[in-house]
Amino acid sequence: MIERHRTSTGRGVVVTGGNSGIGRAIAEAFVANGDRVVVLDRAGADAVSVDVSQEESVRAAFATARQRLGSIDILVNSAGLLTESPVQDMTLAMWNETVSVDLTGVFLCCREVVGEMRQQKWGRIINIASQLAIKGGTGLSHYSAAKAGVVAFTKSLALEVASDNVLVNSIAPGPIETPLVQGISEEWKLAKRAELPLGRFGVAAEVAPTALLLASEPGGNLYVGQTLGPNSGDVMQ
Ligand SMILES: NC(=O)c1ccc[n+]([C@@H]2O[C@H](COP(=O)([O-])OP(=O)(O)OC[C@H]3O[C@@H](n4cnc5c(N)ncnc54)[C@H](O)[C@@H]3O)[C@@H](O)[C@H]2O)c1
Repeated sequence: MIERHRTSTGRGVVVTGGNSGIGRAIAEAFVANGDRVVVLDRAGADAVSVDVSQEESVRAAFATARQRLGSIDILVNSAGLLTESPVQDMTLAMWNETVSVDLTGVFLCCREVVGEMRQQKWGRIINIASQLAIKGGTGLSHYSAAKAGVVAFTKSLALEVASDNVLVNSIAPGPIETPLVQGISEEWKLAKRAELPLGRFGVAAEVAPTALLLASEPGGNLYVGQTLGPNSGDVMQ
């Protein structure tokens, strides 16, 4: 018999970057499932304000989230940004901004919750990476490198905490129609669509169910350090 350690509803969920796009769709999906969700984002009426790249800001935001939720059972790291530049023109500031938000931010947020999740012998962490972590992207070297870092960080953290029933995985979406990709050149997007076996970008609601699966029992029980790919067939592994 499979033992259930948590009810599959009413759980305390933190979603970073939950004001927009994939994070918002995931937050809405957990709410629809009957979970209690706190969104952390840069600003916004319902969100707890945070800059995920800043240690003190992260610490304060998680303290507020913990007060609201009691315990944090599930963390989804979806906060991220995307800029575009060939390496030869890329400033160090552009590189550092991307790595700070897209990679260091994931580390800082995970660090806030792993202790309590290990103690309560139950936790699910879902990091939103990108399929560019695997295949790279022209003009997106900083972003691709940060996301590859997220995948490797996820595997390493998963190894550290799985024995305490804290399961850490990542989702590596393909191109999804959100405000994030509005900044990318039309040229890039046209070429990208032509490459995709499905011939289209996804929408955020098509990614959210993968997060619910990873957080579910028994459906998510055996995923440890995996990278799941809702990506229109862009990468197959
Ligand atoms: N849209 C895509 O095609 C795509 C593909 C693969 C991966 N992703 C990843 O999915 C995640 C969500 O992206 P999205 O497409 O929903 O983008 P989005 O721009 O719609 O949402 C990103 C959210 O992150 C927040 N954010 C950005 N910087 C932050 C910071 N320093 N601190 C706190 N919050 C911050 C933004 O305010 C925004 O609400 C990102 O990690 C992104 O890299 C997106």
